[in-house]
Amino acid sequence: MKLAFLGAGRMAAAIARGALDAHLCTPAEIRATARTEPTRAAFAKTVGLKDHAAEAAIQPATENAQIAAAAEIVFLCVKPLDLVAVAREIAPHLRADNQLLVSVAAGISLADLQKAVGDAVPLVRVMPNTPALVGQGACAYARGATTTDHHTGLVEKIFGALGEIHAIDEKLIDAVNGLSASGPAYVFTVIEALADGGVLMGLPRVLAASLATQTVLGAAALVKETGHHPAQLRDAVASAGGTTMAGLEALEAGGLRAALIAAVRAGTVRARGLGAGLPP
Ligand SMILES: NC(=O)c1ccc[n+]([C@@H]2O[C@H](COP(=O)([O-])OP(=O)(O)OC[C@H]3O[C@@H](n4cnc5c(N)ncnc54)[C@H](OP(=O)(O)O)[C@@H]3O)[C@@H](O)[C@H]2O)c1
Repeated sequence: MKLAFLGAGRMAAAIARGALDAHLCTPAEIRATARTEPTRAAFAKTVGLKDHAAEAAIQPATENAQIAAAAEIVFLCVKPLDLVAVAREIAPHLRADNQLLVSVAAGISLADLQKAVGDAVPLVRVMPNTPALVGQGACAYARGATTTDHHTGLVEKIFGALGEIHAIDEKLIDAVNGLSASGPAYVFTVIEALADGGVLMGLPRVLAASLATQTVLGAAALVKETGHHPAQLRDAVASAGGTTMAGLEALEAGGLRAALIAAVRAGTVRARGLGAGLPP
């Protein structure tokens, strides 16, 4: 299956890697564009394209239309504010009968995209996250008006190879952005802060970082594998008068819970605002 990535940044590389790992395409069937050489080289490295294959596959942004025209699935992976311009640029070259257009951009609605490329073009709007790079992504998608089950099946296969994928109504996608697309950055901050706490209490930096990372990974795995509510798992380890309860008191006093809830709200509100700056 021929895949085109317009915008060969981090997200495009993660998706291309997933498509290869899922055997949905061969390296020779991948094409991508970016404005600058370092981005093109980084894409080739992450996706594992070598020498001649990389040269043929990764092109300057001036080739967007040509590369989109030859693909079966076109992924729009540029930043949100560049998205509508790129969609308009390729629109005359798209074939509604046998192509699918997938956008991963934050804040740009299916309606805005459909306006840019025409009503007939099948569209899917996906909200992925960067743990997709290691096959642990959390992702949701909404389908456009002319999108068929065949199209959504392709999207589920590709993004399913990168982690979890959920079909949702488009009205929920900005909240997915605020939670799981932005969420890795919140959790990186939590990991860093836990490690800092360990260093404060005398642990060597490398040991503290390793313990903090594995603690977050292990806690998430325990929630997922047992299916228990996080509060139930927390209560099970917070014994009366114990060390964990003392730590939890400090977390409540510091407002961790309220801060994380506010972070998801802020990310969601910001995503809603991104589409507002589009050209008419
Ligand atoms: N990163 C995330 O966690 C995340 C999560 C969910 C959704 N998304 C969405 O994914 C999209 C891409 O994000 P990203 O993190 O992958 O950003 P990124 O690494 O900055 O990649 C965007 C790429 O687009 C290229 N580009 C810009 N204008 C172009 C044009 N006219 N034609 C072709 N390529 C062009 C840029 O190339 P140069 O570098 O050469 O300028 C850049 O490498 C965004 O819309 C974002 O909202 C990202």
